[in-house]
Amino acid sequence: MAINVLVGMQWGDEGKGKIVDLVSEKHDVIARFQGGANAGHTVVIDGKEFILHLIPSGILRPGKTCIIGSGVVVDPQALLKEIEELRELGVETKGRLIVSPRAHCILPVHKAMDRAGESGKSGKKIGTTGRGIGPTYSDKAQRVGIPIHYLLDGEKLKAAVTALVNTKNSLLKNFYGIEELDVGEMLAYIKSIVPKIAPYIGDTRRVLRNAIDKNLEILCEGAQGTMLDIDHGTYPFVTSSNTVSAGACTGLGIPPNKIDTIIGVVKAYTTRVGEGPFPTELNDEMGEMLRGEGAEFGATTGRPRRCGWFDGMVARYSVELNGIGEIALTKLDVLDKLKTIKACVAYEVDGKRVESISDDVSILERAKPIYDEFDGWQSTTAGTTEFDKLPDNAKKYINFLEKHMDAEIKIISTGKDRNSTVIL
Ligand code: GDP
Ligand code: IMO
Ligand code: MG
Repeated sequence: MAINVLVGMQWGDEGKGKIVDLVSEKHDVIARFQGGANAGHTVVIDGKEFILHLIPSGILRPGKTCIIGSGVVVDPQALLKEIEELRELGVETKGRLIVSPRAHCILPVHKAMDRAGESGKSGKKIGTTGRGIGPTYSDKAQRVGIPIHYLLDGEKLKAAVTALVNTKNSLLKNFYGIEELDVGEMLAYIKSIVPKIAPYIGDTRRVLRNAIDKNLEILCEGAQGTMLDIDHGTYPFVTSSNTVSAGACTGLGIPPNKIDTIIGVVKAYTTRVGEGPFPTELNDEMGEMLRGEGAEFGATTGRPRRCGWFDGMVARYSVELNGIGEIALTKLDVLDKLKTIKACVAYEVDGKRVESISDDVSILERAKPIYDEFDGWQSTTAGTTEFDKLPDNAKKYINFLEKHMDAEIKIISTGKDRNSTVIL
């Protein structure tokens, strides 16, 4: 029996979906523990593309049980759409997908509040995905949210939704100057989706406990990335959940002493979507090149991703914070054409060399990267499946990364397809 946790080591979009699909072959249960439909995980199997937002990427492996845990925020509309899209692609979720009754519901009111929050009237823009994530987690913390099990109790639901919409309406109207929402419409919308969602609601904690007792293999699938963690990321330019490995315990109800290996997914360079500090960002032709070669456009919002060199400070912080024991290095092939590759090994802040991530984002905002340079391999690694067949300069870069991060690289991804992978 093993419970493994997989997390993103940067600012998201590291290729977690591809790696989860790969490693879920050896797991029986795959469980999402945080985030919501802000995630976009693209998986390519024999040329066929699947984009998952809320449902664990393990759903693409027949027979696997998939869980959406209590730490996730669930937009029922997004969930139903994803279930339908998977069905059209030949993937059936009924009987294999279980949603925690304790997960909180994202309602249209949360999406309205997310949009209003990003209008600039209440301070800095974060560049959110607009999926209602922050407002739903805020309401949960404020104890005015709507856990999924309320959907099954008409009276409780009506009282909670009415109070919630009325409170937000006063903010929408008086502070943001936006049109108010109609409580009756909100309740009618919820009523229409309850019968479709109800069959998926189940005791996920019990399912996981039974799996532990039966010695089954469980994979906890992280969304977003370590630097977007609400407590440990580049606050306030973060998402609203704990993206780090520890979040798997609270978000699923698994005791910490049952966790085995933490797998970190890291890109051979760095990307970020939305606002916030990004020391190794390249606002030049090289950045454009990485965006083009890496097809760096968001799977959820279609926004171009900001691109830059590998940031060794971020990666090391991530290894420490998550307890990463194994690394999956992705998108090596994107660097194939480069003459020179750079990797940040320290920052210069106010004339001093710094080798850690500051707690204050304004320091990270003025950090200048100090780079090590590597000769590129200028030949193709795309689709390579054997380490020995990688060019020598690619091996040198990989060896440097492994040494710098102080964790073993066990998987190297050389293309988007499931098969374009080196397993070490
Ligand atoms: P996630 O959010 O961490 O699951 O990552 P995304 O799916 O949002 O973004 C990763 C993108 O890179 C997707 O379009 C993948 O199909 C693609 N991808 C994953 N691994 C590789 C790789 O090794 N090489 C290339 N070229 N593309 C990859
Ligand atoms: P995956 O799972 C990249 C970013 C948003 C924004 C910030 C807050 O595909 O790696 P939110 O909507 O969560 O309140 O937005 O977090 N963000 C992501 N960036 N990949 C993601 O998910 C992200 N989910 C949220 O762009 O900067
Ligand atoms: Mg993504």
